[in-house]
Amino acid sequence: MAEQGVRQAEDRLVHLNTAGAGLMPDTVRAAMEACIAREAAIGCYETEESLDDLLQGEVYQRLARAIGAPVEDVALFDSATRAWCAVVPKLRLGPADRVWVTPYEYAGNLISLFSLRDRTGCRIEVVPTLPGGDLDLEWMAAHIADDVALVSVTHIPSGCGIVNPVEEIGRILAPYRCFYAVDACQSIGQVPVDVSRIGCQLLTGAGRKFMRGPRGTAFAYVAPRLREALITDFHDLHVAHVDSPTGYRVTDPSARGLELAERTTAAVAGLNAALTLFESGSPFDHKDVFRALRETVERTPGIELIAPGEVQSGIVSFRHADIPADEIRRRLGERRINVWKIVGNHTPIYMAERGVETAVRASVHYYNTVEEIETFGRALREIVGAGSRS
Ligand SMILES: Cc1ncc(COP(=O)(O)O)c(C=O)c1O
Repeated sequence: MAEQGVRQAEDRLVHLNTAGAGLMPDTVRAAMEACIAREAAIGCYETEESLDDLLQGEVYQRLARAIGAPVEDVALFDSATRAWCAVVPKLRLGPADRVWVTPYEYAGNLISLFSLRDRTGCRIEVVPTLPGGDLDLEWMAAHIADDVALVSVTHIPSGCGIVNPVEEIGRILAPYRCFYAVDACQSIGQVPVDVSRIGCQLLTGAGRKFMRGPRGTAFAYVAPRLREALITDFHDLHVAHVDSPTGYRVTDPSARGLELAERTTAAVAGLNAALTLFESGSPFDHKDVFRALRETVERTPGIELIAPGEVQSGIVSFRHADIPADEIRRRLGERRINVWKIVGNHTPIYMAERGVETAVRASVHYYNTVEEIETFGRALREIVGAGSRS
């Protein structure tokens, strides 16, 4: 009965914050709860042992299938930033190398690149955009050369809904020496992501957003050519053995060598359940809800849409000239509508060019309905019409 009450309360919620974290499906919650209950009943290590096939095999196979990667090239992490930092700072770059980023780069990735630049002397360049905000692919094709060591492209940024053409970029870069990194945090589970089509050597993503997995789950695809090029500073005990008093042996040459051994069993079990649901046919064809969200925001008086680019996803960011983003978020929250206040400096290059310090971000997934968007639209119009006081 209590469970039913919770569900009814949840039913009234309009969750437009999957770009923050998606609503967890019952199967994910059940997998995690079962795992935690078992840990409390029989012990954590014993639970891990009983789930060995899932934790060491199944979850990797499902992830590999989800992104079109060989299973030995995928690794699990507790955040997408951790996945990125397990790879990018270990690149052997020098003053002769150039690194390309786009204006849509995520701030955490940029911090690690800036520190890599400060350590190695490499140069960071920003790929220009066309007037509408799309990346200038002609510029990329004309300027790519073998002194570009790394190209980093965010598939869909956290601050707005542009879908960058990662496959087309992969074709431009393919003949060159550079490593190609794609941040798929906001795209995995939302739009098709297939590393064999993208042609990247690194792809990072989070489990908690459009995959609907738990917090504290993330992954990376790391191609063998990239793994071989990294500075190897450590291997944890799930992939290496200290086999003499003076040395160790790596027993698993897969991408799992980039992981740490200790992890939250329940989170990995939850991710496995999310991947299972995804495999059972996660729909990418909810364009009517995407469109409804964008049109609703566009038609609201006084709202400025922040939506660069031709191809858009289910993330729509906007701001109002007089009403601060946190106030819009709070007042929507009072009506049980979840949106998020984004800060410009999380997507700092693009947002600084555009002069955006804060904005409201609404994001939809396949569980949202056009009716929910109408509810959101009515509430937004009321808030805007009411001015800055409640
Ligand atoms: C585009 C993008 N990249 C990277 C991240 C970082 O992910 P995490 O918080 O799992 O480190 C985020 C988080 O929102 C993101 O939106």
